[in-house]
Amino acid sequence: MTGKEFKIAYTEYSSIDELNPEDRELAAEAIEAMKGSYAPYSHFNVGAAVRMSNGQIVRGANQENAAFPSGLCAERTAMFAAGAKYPDKAMTSIALAGGVWGRLTEEPATPCGACRQVMAQYQTKGGRPMSVLMLGAKRIWKFEKVDDILPLIFDSI
Ligand code: THU
Repeated sequence: MTGKEFKIAYTEYSSIDELNPEDRELAAEAIEAMKGSYAPYSHFNVGAAVRMSNGQIVRGANQENAAFPSGLCAERTAMFAAGAKYPDKAMTSIALAGGVWGRLTEEPATPCGACRQVMAQYQTKGGRPMSVLMLGAKRIWKFEKVDDILPLIFDSI
């Protein structure tokens, strides 16, 4: 028997100003994207922005529906739009921001498991790391690749 462990490295920033210019731009896009949220049930508005390998940015926001499972998270809304618009480009990074009634959370917004799975597959499709930027008013976390937030990913088929 051998005890094993995962070690996850990430960077914490205390404000958007500390980010590099590309990430700062993506962060601003994710926060702006919150305005596109349709969340009449949770009132939790989430915005996401995906940067493509050609430099283009695609935004998404959560969309809710009275038939609850029919709604979709901001991250998947953004990634599916990006995948449909730029099928031959890699997604090199994704940023997300959220908050009740549009007010950014203090702590970083963290993506749900289903969105992590979708990120992982687009990262594989793109053939290069996709960084994940989680935004909060008090701090920001950056993970350099999706593997860091989804160890032991399902990729067997
Ligand atoms: N939501 C997202 O858009 N992204 C996440 O990472 C977590 C949750 C949405 C789904 C739902 O519309 C609302 O936030 C409350 O769960």
